[in-house]
Amino acid sequence: MKRIAVLLTVLALPSAVLAWPWSQDMMNQPSIKPQEGVMTPFPARSVPVMGIPTKVANREESKDLVNPIAVTTASLKKGRTLFRIYCSACHGLTGKAESPVASKIGAIDLTDDYVQASLSEGWLWGTITFGSYVMPAYGVVGEQGGSNDLSVEERWHVVNYLKNGLVNETRMAAQ
Ligand code: HEC
Repeated sequence: MKRIAVLLTVLALPSAVLAWPWSQDMMNQPSIKPQEGVMTPFPARSVPVMGIPTKVANREESKDLVNPIAVTTASLKKGRTLFRIYCSACHGLTGKAESPVASKIGAIDLTDDYVQASLSEGWLWGTITFGSYVMPAYGVVGEQGGSNDLSVEERWHVVNYLKNGLVNETRMAAQ
């Protein structure tokens, strides 16, 4: 009889233990549980695990892009070479619209204030990528033709050259 009593006590023990005040103390802490309280803000410059969209769909969306390529002599040289291959046919070797076709198609002077001061680097990159009204695209195969001849980086090198080398062309050429 005694044995049965012991056995019953042993079997009943776990449920009794669960009822003890400390049996849930791992769960009931003064911490904030999931879905409780206010989430702490993400640290600066953190990104969602799914990433952030980096693709822009048109020139308008590119105008605030930040140029990731530093203005170095190497970058200016690459930009200059690409400019002479891809842009000079219409905008002229000096960018001053002195090419034979410039006046016929309305290619503009790229050294004047309109381009140098009022167009952002992102906008210039967007213009090279998506083209303009008459000007063809160099980063997408668009509606009005165009090619993706220039890589993303190459387009930034051209932007660096447009903003920092073109107006100093004589200095660049001497280097
Ligand atoms: C086939 C001729 C042609 C070529 C090649 C060309 N452009 Fe243009 N570009 C134009 C014409 C025409 C305009 C003015 C009309 C327009 O906006 O389409 C223009 C306008 C621009 C503008 C002004 C955009 C604006 O917002 O007003 C920039 C900047 C420019 N070109 C840069 C370049 C660069 C950089 C290259 C080389 C990667 C290049 N272009 C190659 C014809 C050309």
